[in-house]
Amino acid sequence: MATRIDGKALAAKVKAQVAEAAKGLSRQPGLAVILVGNDPASRVYVNGKERDCAECGFQSFEHALPEETAQAELLALIEELNQDPRVDGILCQLPLPSHLDEDAVLNAIARDKDVDCFHPYNVGRLAAGDPVFLPCTPAGVMEMLREYGISVRGKRCAVLGRSNIVGKPMAMLLLQQDGTVTVCHSKTPDLAAITREADILVSAVGRVSLITADMVKEGAVVIDVAMNRNGEGKLCGDVDYAGVEPKASYITPVPGGVGPMTRAMLMRNILTAARHHQAEN
Ligand code: GUN
Repeated sequence: MATRIDGKALAAKVKAQVAEAAKGLSRQPGLAVILVGNDPASRVYVNGKERDCAECGFQSFEHALPEETAQAELLALIEELNQDPRVDGILCQLPLPSHLDEDAVLNAIARDKDVDCFHPYNVGRLAAGDPVFLPCTPAGVMEMLREYGISVRGKRCAVLGRSNIVGKPMAMLLLQQDGTVTVCHSKTPDLAAITREADILVSAVGRVSLITADMVKEGAVVIDVAMNRNGEGKLCGDVDYAGVEPKASYITPVPGGVGPMTRAMLMRNILTAARHHQAEN
């Protein structure tokens, strides 16, 4: 029987701490949220982030733009938000419509407002071991491990997925805490041979039932970052929860696991940005 890591409860605790800390600031922190197009999943995520802002006592400024928004228009909006003193953080919800240049957009966000930690400057600071902001999903996973007393030091860690948002920064954070990290991806042969060796398994692939019990080491910590829908339309992760749970020592559910932690870590980054901006004024 594994201990279920309750991301929802831990996220509530983190948000309460952030809200309390924000009371000590001279000005209310603010997040600008940019949503381009009509992707229903992105709308759900954005609504959640705006709700979290309200809970933490932050202002949120939504900029919902039509699907056909031109690159220049989007860059002009970002420039305006970069200059706006009410805005501590800028979040451009991904994915963007395919005619937009995602890298150029993320690079345009002021480094000190980059609360997603996607700007190459902040990615570099993270890689160098001297981060300003932490990437939200990987930081949420690390916070869960810390809260449940799970040490990474000397452990074999397998990270499945190599995206800039999750896989790569996740590997960096685990490495910084002295894990021995293997990053697996779609070209990795014999994935199961690697996952079976892992003391800590983090899956961020996006495939229902990718991780079955036979792929998991007895007593492993299993962290499921994915958010999929199964054949019945129900939310689920990459891990066959019912099958893997008896073998794991700790496991995250989907929903109610990593998802709420990602949002809580975003709130923490907004607080960090607001503190920096306040100190400058
Ligand atoms: N799309 C999926 N995850 C994220 C995230 O963490 N930040 C942004 N901006 N977009 C996303």
